[in-house]
Amino acid sequence: MTGEQTLSDTPWLEQGAEPFIKIRGVTKKFGEFTAVDNIDLDIYQGELFCLLGGSGCGKSTLLRMLSGFETPTSGSITIDGMDMSNVPPYERPTNMMFQSYALFPHMTVEKNVAFGLKQDKIPVAEINDRVHDILTLVELQDYKKRKPQQLSGGQKQRVALARALVKQPKLLLLDEPLAALDKKLREQTQFELMNIQEKVGITFVVVTHDQEEAMTLSTRIAVMNDGEFMQLGTPTEIYEFPESRFVADFIGSANMLEGRIVEDGPDHVRVKTDLGEVFIDHGQSVKEGSRVWIAIRPEKMHLSKEPPLKPGPNQAFGMVDDIGYLGDISIYKIRLENNQIIDVTAPNQIRPKSRTHTITWEEKVYLHWQASSAVLLTK
Ligand SMILES: Nc1ncnc2c1ncn2[C@@H]1O[C@H](COP(=O)(O)OP(=O)(O)O)[C@@H](O)[C@H]1O
Ligand SMILES: [Mg+2]
Repeated sequence: MTGEQTLSDTPWLEQGAEPFIKIRGVTKKFGEFTAVDNIDLDIYQGELFCLLGGSGCGKSTLLRMLSGFETPTSGSITIDGMDMSNVPPYERPTNMMFQSYALFPHMTVEKNVAFGLKQDKIPVAEINDRVHDILTLVELQDYKKRKPQQLSGGQKQRVALARALVKQPKLLLLDEPLAALDKKLREQTQFELMNIQEKVGITFVVVTHDQEEAMTLSTRIAVMNDGEFMQLGTPTEIYEFPESRFVADFIGSANMLEGRIVEDGPDHVRVKTDLGEVFIDHGQSVKEGSRVWIAIRPEKMHLSKEPPLKPGPNQAFGMVDDIGYLGDISIYKIRLENNQIIDVTAPNQIRPKSRTHTITWEEKVYLHWQASSAVLLTK
């Protein structure tokens, strides 16, 4: 089903590439309340783009404006070169898959999937072919005579996906598509969804509040809060280079140290914090003396029972306050001298001779991290 032309993996980096969706200055107000606040966004063909944020931040409202179920208060949306201002939902090149799946309970899988095509008065032979192809794609051929209540949660989700894809939209909008599934199934279904999207080559815009899901699925993520974008980037960019405390904290977890810039050199930054000096091995253009925050991921903190060979930057000292055993990893909660708790994670390999292996409650420990591990944040 994929077209002849090969799409770039990173169209957003390509000079002059034409976005498939252009959102310009889009605002949505409900009375006095601003649900979506002056958003600009380009999405490229073939992307699996995620709108990620907590409940009520405006994700669904933005998605619904793409589908045409909601009209922007101001701003414009262009899809595939066409201004959507006066285009009703059913004339847009989009289709929407809802969280509830909204399957017809009295119809078989096959009839559920064929329903939209029948309404469009597509010839029966073509309907049969398209339904067959799409059920094969989502691996539900053997279930086509079943009714929704005879299916598992994951199978229902695939029927809903098939029903949305069979209409061959240019853009599929998915609002929390996996929220009804339990954790294990959700993880498996994330990979299925990615594979299917890759096979059909259709642009997907997915709304989710689940950061792991967004990280797994997406080509790019927009992190939303209070109707605004906090950051836009690839999963790696957002995780490794958060631009604000909000994003550092929202995506994964981050230890946050407050401090002041002592020196901003061309290839390094030195920051004075309560816990001593932090040295970061890249420059950043921040004013000396200004207040900043240092974010360090728990997996980038190293724990040791031995004091460092010599004192220096990027070190701290504390006491083990708590240990959480999660099977594959353990989380150590380290209470520092200023009472701040720092999270450190370490994988649970069998390492009988390792020092960290024997670290236990109430023990004195030393922390250190590499100069490249700390992220400097100014907001
Ligand atoms: N039709 C509506 N009328 C009034 N307020 C609405 C309407 N739809 C959404 N909202 C409000 O707009 C905000 C964003 O909603 P929504 O986009 O559904 O959030 P999300 O999908 O991120 O959880 C919420 O505070 C919600 O209560
Ligand atoms: Mg929502």
